[in-house]
Amino acid sequence: MKTIKFRNGDEMPIIGLGTWKSKPGEVFQAVLWALEAGYRHIDCAALYNNEKEVGNAFEQAFKENIVKREDLFVTSKLWNSNHRLDDVPTALKKTLKDLKLDYLDLYLIHWPISFKPGVGFAQHREEFYTYSDVPLIQTWEGMEHCKEQGLTKHIGVSNFNISKLNELINSGSIVPEMNQIELHPFLPQEKLVNFCRSHGILNTAYSPLGSGDRSASIKKANEPSLLENTTIVEIAKKYNASPAQILIAYSIQRGIAVIPKSVNKERINENLAATTIDLSAQDMAKIANIGVSYRYVDGSFFTGPISPYTKDDLWEKE
Ligand code: A2P
Repeated sequence: MKTIKFRNGDEMPIIGLGTWKSKPGEVFQAVLWALEAGYRHIDCAALYNNEKEVGNAFEQAFKENIVKREDLFVTSKLWNSNHRLDDVPTALKKTLKDLKLDYLDLYLIHWPISFKPGVGFAQHREEFYTYSDVPLIQTWEGMEHCKEQGLTKHIGVSNFNISKLNELINSGSIVPEMNQIELHPFLPQEKLVNFCRSHGILNTAYSPLGSGDRSASIKKANEPSLLENTTIVEIAKKYNASPAQILIAYSIQRGIAVIPKSVNKERINENLAATTIDLSAQDMAKIANIGVSYRYVDGSFFTGPISPYTKDDLWEKE
């Protein structure tokens, strides 16, 4: 299993199973299939509303000796409504209870966006009391406490741009160890990835296949398709691989962890098999010049008349 290394030398399997959009009725089986197939990294979040079912799968996998806890890498994420200092360890402990684990391998701030306590995803627009102004550095201090207490081995962030990373780098005690962001051939984010590299921050690519199963409410009409892109399809034929496998191999070749979501046994296996594909420099260059630029998860659901956040202060300019 290919891995990437944290600054202290700990390793993280480069491919993980994504669980965003996996329904409670499907995710138990999907995680078990993945662990049986050889996945050793599962990406979770409190917001995905399925951590209890993921936890049931872990419990069964440990009981049946499919995997040992110490050989499994589990990530979860702090939701926006728990950004206050004391809420951070409380939220992490709830996630641990749901996942039936006594520590996480990696805990991330899900978004650089702060909600009032108790606000889930659905309430972000209508409720005038949705947003609050907890400084990011306060949330980061809470994350540092979690690491000190051994609740998680590593801490990081998700959806952070350079200026927000700099806030934590300049004022925090621990430099973030991970920034999980949307990354794929339509959104390579070279500048942000290079910034992270220069500070010893690893990256994980979310929505590596274009997240075609997002709910209609957060999808735009006529989105370009990664899986049907002619360059990707053409390269896939050449390697006798599927387009999804090429997209996964592209991330791995960049040294970036990748978390394709699937609840289908064949596709779970297919995605793992992509770790053996070796794309030539020429084909990587072809993908780099793909000629389409697109962000699927553009954060517009956090912006609007009542929001203090704009897309401009969320995202890095390419
Ligand atoms: P399914 O869960 O039915 O396999 P992303 O990881 O970018 O969020 O994309 C997830 C979407 O891609 C889901 O709709 C998932 O469907 C689909 N998917 C996962 N693996 C593959 C694959 N190998 N080929 C085609 N589609 C895939």
